[in-house]
Amino acid sequence: MTLKQTNPPVLKLSGVTKRIGKKTIVDGLSFEVRGGEIVGLLGPNGAGKTTAMRMMTGLIRMSEGDVTVAGSSIRDRFKEAIAQVGGIIENPEFYPYMSGFDNLKQAARMTDSVTDQRIAEVIGLLGLEEAQGKKVKTYSLGMRQRLGIAQALLDRPKLLILDEPNNGLDPAGIREMRDYLKQIAHSEGIAILVSSHLLSEIEQMCSRVVVIQNGRLVTERKLGGREAGAADLPELRIRVDKPEEARRAIEALERVKLERVSEAESEVTCLAADADMAALIDALRLAGVTVYRIAETRKSLEDEFLQWTGGNQIA
Ligand SMILES: Nc1ncnc2c1ncn2[C@@H]1O[C@H](COP(=O)(O)OP(=O)(O)OP(=O)(O)O)[C@@H](O)[C@H]1O
Ligand SMILES: [Mg+2]
Repeated sequence: MTLKQTNPPVLKLSGVTKRIGKKTIVDGLSFEVRGGEIVGLLGPNGAGKTTAMRMMTGLIRMSEGDVTVAGSSIRDRFKEAIAQVGGIIENPEFYPYMSGFDNLKQAARMTDSVTDQRIAEVIGLLGLEEAQGKKVKTYSLGMRQRLGIAQALLDRPKLLILDEPNNGLDPAGIREMRDYLKQIAHSEGIAILVSSHLLSEIEQMCSRVVVIQNGRLVTERKLGGREAGAADLPELRIRVDKPEEARRAIEALERVKLERVSEAESEVTCLAADADMAALIDALRLAGVTVYRIAETRKSLEDEFLQWTGGNQIA
């Protein structure tokens, strides 16, 4: 027994596969999402994002594998599992001639557990206080999306699954959506999975990204922040007078990774975190190396994704 506090996954995919006819649309997909996390499901058009999400929300069956939601398997305990999922896969449907509030009230009638206080809470969470009295047919796309999320949250799901929530939103709407989702993940402590084919959207909204292509996992990684992995370290090109001495000095540093040495250009290239810069510079000076220039050549995430997905496939 370990006393270490762990945060069990709210969503867990294990080898999820979907075949339609002879085509494998989702192929052995496995990943997890934990409470309070916003994870991006990123992939080019046709990668299988919607299909994967339809399986996670129980809209279509899996061919193989399993999805568990808060520990309940969609295969064995469908009702318990699905009861924990708030999902918006297609456009949310509303009664256009009813107000936003009345639409939520109507949705709340489908369950016994949603109180008026909860309705007011989700209205507040999605910033719909002013709009709630207006007919939904007068709502902008962004307001509709927010109403859809409010509705999905009514029953306090542990997991929110949103398929391209930014589709059709203008930059201000996208920014609003991002702020609301962050707020929801934080205040409700729920796990959120959002799909997108745009890296820039995912990058700003999510703490982690799962990249798929042709139904398969390409890579999974953390984004930004202090938790980022080694691949996130800035690459530094350092112009020096004595590259060989610089090499030896850098190789002696535990946390700085030497990439290459170019005698011709009088340069060493290494990976180093900001926190290790002082040690790096000290080590070079102690080795009698004169530094002429330090340039950061950090690859953009976009470059990395293009590399991983083998070309120009993620916008
Ligand atoms: N019912 C179906 N029958 C046959 N093929 C399907 C079916 N549903 C999806 N596909 C195919 O599966 C692939 C993945 O589709 P899916 O809609 O899941 O991709 P996506 O990642 O959501 O794409 P987009 O970014 O365009 O929304 C596509 O090639 C699509 O044509
Ligand atoms: Mg889709």
